[in-house]
Amino acid sequence: MTITPPALSVFETLESEVRSYCRGWPAVFDRAQGARLTDEDGHTYLDFFAGAGSLNYGHNNPVLKRALLDYLERDGITHGLDMATTAKRAFLETFQNVLLRPRDLPYKVMFPGPTGTNAVEAALKLARKVKGRESIVSFTNAFHGMSLGSLAVTGNAFKRAGAGIPLVHGTPMPFDNYLDGQVPDFLWFERLLEDQGSGLNKPAAVIVETIQGEGGINVASPEWLRALADLCHRRDMLLIVDDIQMGCGRTGAFFSFEEAGIQPDIVTLSKSISGYGLPMSLCLFNPELDVWEPGEHNGTFRGNNPAFVTATAALNTYWADGQMEKQTIARGEQVEHALKAIRAESPGTPPDIRGRGLVWGVEFEDKNRATAVCARAFELGLLLETSGPQSEVVKLLPPLTVTPDELDEGLRTLARAVRETA
Ligand SMILES: Cc1ncc(COP(=O)(O)O)c(C=O)c1O
Repeated sequence: MTITPPALSVFETLESEVRSYCRGWPAVFDRAQGARLTDEDGHTYLDFFAGAGSLNYGHNNPVLKRALLDYLERDGITHGLDMATTAKRAFLETFQNVLLRPRDLPYKVMFPGPTGTNAVEAALKLARKVKGRESIVSFTNAFHGMSLGSLAVTGNAFKRAGAGIPLVHGTPMPFDNYLDGQVPDFLWFERLLEDQGSGLNKPAAVIVETIQGEGGINVASPEWLRALADLCHRRDMLLIVDDIQMGCGRTGAFFSFEEAGIQPDIVTLSKSISGYGLPMSLCLFNPELDVWEPGEHNGTFRGNNPAFVTATAALNTYWADGQMEKQTIARGEQVEHALKAIRAESPGTPPDIRGRGLVWGVEFEDKNRATAVCARAFELGLLLETSGPQSEVVKLLPPLTVTPDELDEGLRTLARAVRETA
């Protein structure tokens, strides 16, 4: 008897081996609403990954969907290069009124291209142009994107190796707590800057994430961020905060650096800025840094007008008052409480838990455990991803609009997955 193996799916036969998330979550997803996805067989999954932080307001958020449908229905501009459009005007005015003015942020807004790494590339190019220097300082375990400039300031050896050419003009420094508090913050960095024999080319800028999302949920303290801002100021280096994953309210405040009370020279935003999972990114900078020549940084997809529409609706709906920030902090306390309970009931070395707002990480002593926990969570109907250089951290990134009940359900599933993988 000949047994015919089941036909390989088109994903396996046609789509490149480079695909990754679909390997950890072997389902064919069909619909999604709020914090839940449904696959083609009708199974539902609670989403604690939120499109890697692109869906802070949940899947198909009804308010944003209405705005988008109305706009499409009336034949609003979809593709707009960087032409002036009514949708872009509404977005810029809302961005200024809802976010920049109340925070006294003087930034100009640049649309660098559709995705996060485009914003990082623009930030690096601008810093180099302004300062007339090539070198950029980044931090251990940083992640800034997959294009060559962004990879050069990214830590992960596996991702860097994919570049296929030398990644140059970036210098890594220890992130907060990298040396377990044994060395005073910035001792090494400052010493290299002042020592004529150190071999460090004077940097144009320093690029930092306030919480390293891909690098393992490493949280920089407000004191460390303030000391970094002060160092940049004293040493004539621009401070770039990459808020692509931690911005848009993920940590509580809209900008993740607000808690530290610092004002970066350049800020990158993407992921949840459109609010609907539509590609959009921004590079913000102090007006005196706006030395671009017209068209000097260009790109076909810098005017995703449907994204401007949903972004405007998201800002008006969620950021016109302080409710979203308060809610995220409250939900974060709920997560922290549950993770502490998981830690308390873990035999042996307790897992390390860390996070802020609605981004949390759980790191086990056994580096393989996080992958096992995420795999079991998937079987139990919860989407969770790992992060960290060895995928050793379970990462929690639910939509900010998750309800307390959904959060409780997901956290109970996580606790079960942890117990069952011990
Ligand atoms: C902090 C940070 N910067 C940049 C990027 C790159 O964004 P994109 O994948 O949209 O290019 C990411 C993506 O995860 C990120 O987390």
